[in-house]
Amino acid sequence: MVRAVWGSRLGFILAAAGSAIGLGAIWKFPYVTAKHGGGAFLLLFLLIVFTLGISIMIAEMMVGQIAQKSPVGAYRHFGGRPWALAGYIGVLCGFLILSFYSVIGGWTIFYLVKSVEGGILTSDMLQLRQIFESFITHPVEPLWYHAAFMAVTASVVLAGVQKGIERISKSLLALLFLLILVLIVRSLTLPGALEGALYFLMPDFSKLNAQMLLEAMGLAFFSLSLGMGCMMTYGSYVSNETSIPRSAACVVGLTVAICILVGLMILPAVFAFGLNPAEGPGLTFIIMPAVFSHMGGGAFFSVLFFFLLFVAALTSSVSLMEVVTCFFMDEFGLPRLGVAIVMAALMFAVGIAASLSFGAWRPYTLFGRSFFDLLDYLTSNLMMPFGGIMVTLLAGWKACGEIAARLKPESGIIPRWWPAMKWFCRIIAPLLILLILIRSL
Ligand code: PHE
Repeated sequence: MVRAVWGSRLGFILAAAGSAIGLGAIWKFPYVTAKHGGGAFLLLFLLIVFTLGISIMIAEMMVGQIAQKSPVGAYRHFGGRPWALAGYIGVLCGFLILSFYSVIGGWTIFYLVKSVEGGILTSDMLQLRQIFESFITHPVEPLWYHAAFMAVTASVVLAGVQKGIERISKSLLALLFLLILVLIVRSLTLPGALEGALYFLMPDFSKLNAQMLLEAMGLAFFSLSLGMGCMMTYGSYVSNETSIPRSAACVVGLTVAICILVGLMILPAVFAFGLNPAEGPGLTFIIMPAVFSHMGGGAFFSVLFFFLLFVAALTSSVSLMEVVTCFFMDEFGLPRLGVAIVMAALMFAVGIAASLSFGAWRPYTLFGRSFFDLLDYLTSNLMMPFGGIMVTLLAGWKACGEIAARLKPESGIIPRWWPAMKWFCRIIAPLLILLILIRSL
């Protein structure tokens, strides 16, 4: 079977950015940052993104590009059999993430439908919270939306790499940026908004603690789609001539830009409307309708926002499903169609438990966490950092020769940053991740 390739370098960058930018930046980033006190947490997040994040992004993509294989195959290619285990864990991680990701993806569809119907445009916080709570705690209704989201994801993956994934990523990113900019202007000019902006941007170092370090690292891995083989899989569809490092930097830059812009869109409004910043997973969904209710054309912007949020989630969920699908296709030669359908059904089933854990199953907890929280914690804070350790070790020790050769352009000179990055990958990055894991566990 001929391996799929991206249509162009730009197509690759946008697809990878499409994977990175999603619910992580727009749903998870604001509520986790707000929960941990704002500015100081943001600073930690940025520090991690621009050290670990960018190196792992380059390492993952290049390993994938050189090996031209799914994560399992790529680990095996460079490291031999035992390393393949890291690839298997990555595929499992992708499976688990998509199981709960699709539940939140379903929430975006619900809010899209509600926006079209009208009726959520109010700044009454009690009412907005009640709409949110009664939806997510309902035993059945969120499941329909979860099913719909999973079905759409599977159908995009079925259309294949270029026609499906690349096409939807291309057109909508610019629109998302624009819309967020408009909404920031509205949010920042609400009375009382300044306090929220300061909360988000001014670090208060007295709030720092070890647990926050782990949360910030987990959030960075999750938001950048790192540590579970997603960027490796996307890298494996890049042709040999394309240079990776600059593309990787673009993807990280775009994602961080969206995170910060989203923070500026959400937190000022949270303070202006007197919502508790530690509200939790409902933050984006509860506060945005209030913002729309205070702007001209609010109904229109509301539909546009939830539509773009849905699409952003979709381009990410597609990348998660692609990792799982690509694995079964590469390793067992199975057809795309069958794999995608069976996996979607299984992930839907696991997601049912995640969805119920917001409602009927909320009392059942393990280590003080609901099933949803457990999945989220396990994947973002443990499995993805573990993958980060493995991929930096692989790139630094096993794949460094081939990476250096690939970095050498026709002029024959290896970029000056490579030796530093090589040693960062070999020793510093794995140790750093390990230390953060140990400190906070
Ligand atoms: N980065 C995606 C988001 O922020 C989630 C994701 C994680 C996608 C891991 C792929 C792999 O929504």
